[in-house]
Amino acid sequence: MQYLKRPSLFPPEGLMARFLLMAGGVLIVGMLVIGFWVTSKIEEGVTNSAGVITALYVDAVLSPVVQELALGDQLSPRNLEALERVLRRGALRDQISVFKLWTPGGKVAYSDNPALMGRVLGSSPGLEDALSGSVHTRFDRTFHTENVGAAGVPLLEVYSPVRSVVDGQIIGVAEFYTTAQGLAGDLAAARIQSWVVVGLVSLAMSLALSLVVAGGSRTIKRQRRSLDAQLAELSVLAQNNAGLAQRVEQANHRIASLNEDNLRRISADLHDGPVQQLAFAALRLGKSENERQQQVRRAIDEAMQEIRDICSGLALPDLDDWSVTIIAKRLAAAQGARTGSKVALDIPSDLPTMTPAAKICIYRFLQEALNNCAKHAPGAEQRVSIEAKADILGVSVSDDGPGFDRHNLGDGLGLVGLRERIAGLKGHLRIDTEHGAGTTLSMHLPILAEGQMT
Ligand SMILES: Nc1ncnc2c1ncn2[C@@H]1O[C@H](COP(=O)(O)OP(=O)(O)OP(=O)(O)O)[C@@H](O)[C@H]1O
Ligand SMILES: [Mg+2]
Repeated sequence: MQYLKRPSLFPPEGLMARFLLMAGGVLIVGMLVIGFWVTSKIEEGVTNSAGVITALYVDAVLSPVVQELALGDQLSPRNLEALERVLRRGALRDQISVFKLWTPGGKVAYSDNPALMGRVLGSSPGLEDALSGSVHTRFDRTFHTENVGAAGVPLLEVYSPVRSVVDGQIIGVAEFYTTAQGLAGDLAAARIQSWVVVGLVSLAMSLALSLVVAGGSRTIKRQRRSLDAQLAELSVLAQNNAGLAQRVEQANHRIASLNEDNLRRISADLHDGPVQQLAFAALRLGKSENERQQQVRRAIDEAMQEIRDICSGLALPDLDDWSVTIIAKRLAAAQGARTGSKVALDIPSDLPTMTPAAKICIYRFLQEALNNCAKHAPGAEQRVSIEAKADILGVSVSDDGPGFDRHNLGDGLGLVGLRERIAGLKGHLRIDTEHGAGTTLSMHLPILAEGQMT
């Protein structure tokens, strides 16, 4: 039973382990990401504020002694001396490792490395930024620059524009390198601290969540156990139901076949009993009959004919070798012979093979429907149609007779019996009729595959 299988996705046993694995992964990634993000933000803040301080220092302290650059691209010895004095005295003097003063044309107007003074060196992104008016700052843990000498020192690089006090034009660029040993240490400490904080918070959250998950996991296990018990119960019930349905079906088949046997026996009894007695009575009447005897003989003949008709209706021919098409054709022909009316046939050539029980049912359906036409719609045109669609066989008999109220079947037993007989084979009977609009009686039966036929 497919629908009773329990789904095996996410077994609750693995829920906790799965959660811990995922929570651990998220914790480590979260710690790394947040740690690096925090240090990058601190670094950004520190470099920006260093840039601002430097710009102020340049404006307030350096700018006044290098205004000469507004007139040319070199400083007079007097101003160079003043600049050196300022650099030696200024608030940043202990921190500045390297200092250069550039002209807007890229020439070194001053450098603490005398070999570079007066030379035009290649442009750099920092120089270009400062020449376009902004303060450029950059922090590098392992800085390499020809001016510093020792490689691998953490440095803060700053390019700050120097403006003319007259019109604010950029007349030069001050380039600083300040040692940032402390900053590198601060950043490393901040990173470790943020990792620790994030780690602890995530751990606490994971612990709280694991408690919730463990509780949930226990509930799921409990519910699964009760669900399993219910499913087992249901499956037993479903098996019982299937067994009962099978027994009902078998009983239906047995009753139908017993019914046919009974009808056959009644037919044989009628034929061998009353018909023989009547035949004997007719024989005893002899030939020299007066008027009265002739009346009796006619009554006996009619009675014998009626009983024979009844017998032929009751007894079922051997349908083993009859297909559904043959059944329909023979009954239509018999109807024509009996009533003198023509029965039109609408039967496709490729009908499926039906079970013996289904063939008996179709035979009785056609017999009753055609009998009803003869009885209740004499002289009407009749048509027998058969069609097979998907796994359903449809058989119908229609006439253009007077029709009737299908909710009032009177005392007749024919249609009621048919409905039961068809339902016993998991089919259904349909009556389409109205007063004055003819009658169509149809039955639909499932077509069973070969393996399902009994
Ligand atoms: N083709 C038909 N045309 C008009 N009326 C019909 C037709 N078939 C059935 N009926 C009406 O439906 C009623 C019920 O039909 P049903 O076959 O059950 O009983 P019956 O034919 O009267 O008797 P029984 O079949 O028991 O010999 C009939 O009495 C008749 O009034
Ligand atoms: Mg009838």
